[in-house]
Amino acid sequence: MNEQQASNRTKFWQSQDADHHLHPFTAHPDLRKRGVRMITRGEGVYLYDSEGNKILDGMAGLWCTQIGYGNEELAEVAYKTMKDLAYYNLFFNTSTPPATELAAKIAEKTPGDLNQILFACSGSEAVDSAYKLIKYYWNLKGQPNRKQFVAREGAYHGSTTVAASLSGLSGMHPQFDLPLPGIHHVGPTPHWYKFGGDMTPEAFADHCVAAVEAKFLELGPENVAAFVGEPVMGAGGMMPPPPGYWPKIEALCRKHGILLWADEVICGWGRTGEWFGSDYYDITPDVMTMAKGLSSGYQPISAVAMGGDLAHQIAHSSDEMVHGFTYSGHPVAAAVALKNIEILERDGLVGEPVAPRRDYFAKQLATLSEHPLVGDVRSLGFLGALEMVKDKDTRTPFDGDLNVGYKCREHCFNSGLVMRAVGDSMILCPPLIISETEIDELVAKARTALDLTAKQIGL
Ligand SMILES: Cc1ncc(COP(=O)(O)O)c(C=O)c1O
Repeated sequence: MNEQQASNRTKFWQSQDADHHLHPFTAHPDLRKRGVRMITRGEGVYLYDSEGNKILDGMAGLWCTQIGYGNEELAEVAYKTMKDLAYYNLFFNTSTPPATELAAKIAEKTPGDLNQILFACSGSEAVDSAYKLIKYYWNLKGQPNRKQFVAREGAYHGSTTVAASLSGLSGMHPQFDLPLPGIHHVGPTPHWYKFGGDMTPEAFADHCVAAVEAKFLELGPENVAAFVGEPVMGAGGMMPPPPGYWPKIEALCRKHGILLWADEVICGWGRTGEWFGSDYYDITPDVMTMAKGLSSGYQPISAVAMGGDLAHQIAHSSDEMVHGFTYSGHPVAAAVALKNIEILERDGLVGEPVAPRRDYFAKQLATLSEHPLVGDVRSLGFLGALEMVKDKDTRTPFDGDLNVGYKCREHCFNSGLVMRAVGDSMILCPPLIISETEIDELVAKARTALDLTAKQIGL
């Protein structure tokens, strides 16, 4: 196909898209005016668009393609499973080998005794499922008063009604009359750089934990069902918590008999360098929600893993558990997830074997801290963030109207790099297979985009 034909094809798709397609989290008139960028192919850490441009995907899709794009083994297992058994459900006292084997595999990889697994299709569905199962548990326990959920300001847990309610990004609520009653958000967001003020990071951790306890006491701990948090806050801006935060939160939940729910939709399956963010922070939650990296995004599949008394009560109740989905544990998705986990294990993409590359990523990213726009460089595993500020000494942010993050994101895209902008934080979450040469390329492209952004805002 020559350039003219490629351009005509792109324009045709753009016009179809503008006529019919409502995109997630998008202001439609603006997108329709500018025209969507059509992504047509992926290989390794690279994406290709319909005009033939090659783009380094610094976001692993949407935090999910751990093993990169174009993996033949996953394609083959999907093809074979589809031929053997394209679909069957788990409702009629039946299962399929991939669903059963994946449940056992998740039980093996998750920390502690999280060994009862329920499948869904997306992170949000897993979150909704966990919310329902926690309510069910407290009903089974004869403590029906325990129905209050405590989440955090700045959290992202998805966009179905419950998941959006648990999310602490206030922009997600007004259009839909959310949050639901019984869902509470506690601040400050445990992110020292932005909210820590004059406190040391350690003192700030204590301050955040005290705020959670104050919320428990305000609600009456006997009324609180669960505390939910992402081990590292992702979509709210890649914000690792201050030191000591998670073990103290775990101890607090234990003290008040409140369930600890780790939403591992981003952190799970190797993103932090360990299998789960809970492993990284050395906590054992009662409930875990996971999706994304479970299948490297090759198939839509998610899961809720439960342990302790929660798992025991639900697994041993003689009542019918009246919950589940047509596509829970879909055989093709489950088979792909199993193969994905096999590859993560076999190719040493999690834990010690990949430590040198993770360190390299951190070291190279840190070189950007000298850039005049960058106030904070954060990295943890293969997560990274560059926070752009007006004044590096005082950590003063730019005026929101300047849209510095958005400007930088555009320069990234035009320089052949996907970085996501959350406010003025540029977020990175590359595939776990990224090589040192590709990390160099990523950092060089990020630097170019920062230079162009600085020039644009007259810095
Ligand atoms: C922590 C967390 N939970 C839940 C979700 C929702 O997942 P999904 O978009 O698959 O519904 C996300 C999505 O980014 C997430 O980051």
